[in-house]
Amino acid sequence: MSTTRIEVFDDADALSRAVAGELLARLEAAQAGGGSPQVALTGGSIAERIHAALGEAGPRSEVDWGRVVVWWGDERFVAPDSAERNALDARRSFLDRVGVPDAHVHEVAATDTTATVGDAAAAYAEAIREHGSGAFEVVMLGIGPDGHCASLFPGHPALDVADAITVAVRESPKPPPERVSLTFEALNRSRAVWFVASGEEKAEAVARALADDGDLHETPARGVTGLPDVDGSPTEVVWFLDRPAASRL
Ligand code: 6PG
Repeated sequence: MSTTRIEVFDDADALSRAVAGELLARLEAAQAGGGSPQVALTGGSIAERIHAALGEAGPRSEVDWGRVVVWWGDERFVAPDSAERNALDARRSFLDRVGVPDAHVHEVAATDTTATVGDAAAAYAEAIREHGSGAFEVVMLGIGPDGHCASLFPGHPALDVADAITVAVRESPKPPPERVSLTFEALNRSRAVWFVASGEEKAEAVARALADDGDLHETPARGVTGLPDVDGSPTEVVWFLDRPAASRL
């Protein structure tokens, strides 16, 4: 059974710095236990602030960046150098600054190497099967005003994909239209799920996601709860919010 923790911060800057600090501490702890933690990053505006905070604090931390493996919960199927790529910002602001080896940064294929978004989804699943460790240390997720997370959108058939760890998303309501997303099955293979949300426009979706009752088809963020437990300790779902995003709780 997972536990839920809600952390509320005055503003997006305090939120971003707190998430960065907790991630660094969690990576250090995982490595102290002999692990090579695998993390799934997310896209979006608050994620970009978190990447900048990680790029600033990461080099001063005790994390051995040669023993961190990075994935994305979702990625846009666009050119590799497009500003719309989630990986582009993460690399420039964070990963390149701390020195995660390129072999440990697993990007979803872009339009320069795969013909279709379906091919990119299949290739990403293959990469996870080959280089994944079976469970993420942390899955980080933004949330949309409609309650989507990763590229799992309300009412979309991707929500019901049960026999695959990745899914090709077409006609995304959030541009760009073509994306690759981890499925709930893959997102839930995690010891910790961290939702990050900033701004009044997220408040209603956050409240729906945290309500006692609701349907993941209407609020996909409700579908990510992590593993039931790992080595007997419950998975942690943490909501990192600024005051406006928490204003409907
Ligand atoms: C994406 C993201 C998406 C994002 C949310 C929140 O590729 O678009 O992964 O799930 O995290 O839409 O984005 P904002 O923080 O920009 O609102």
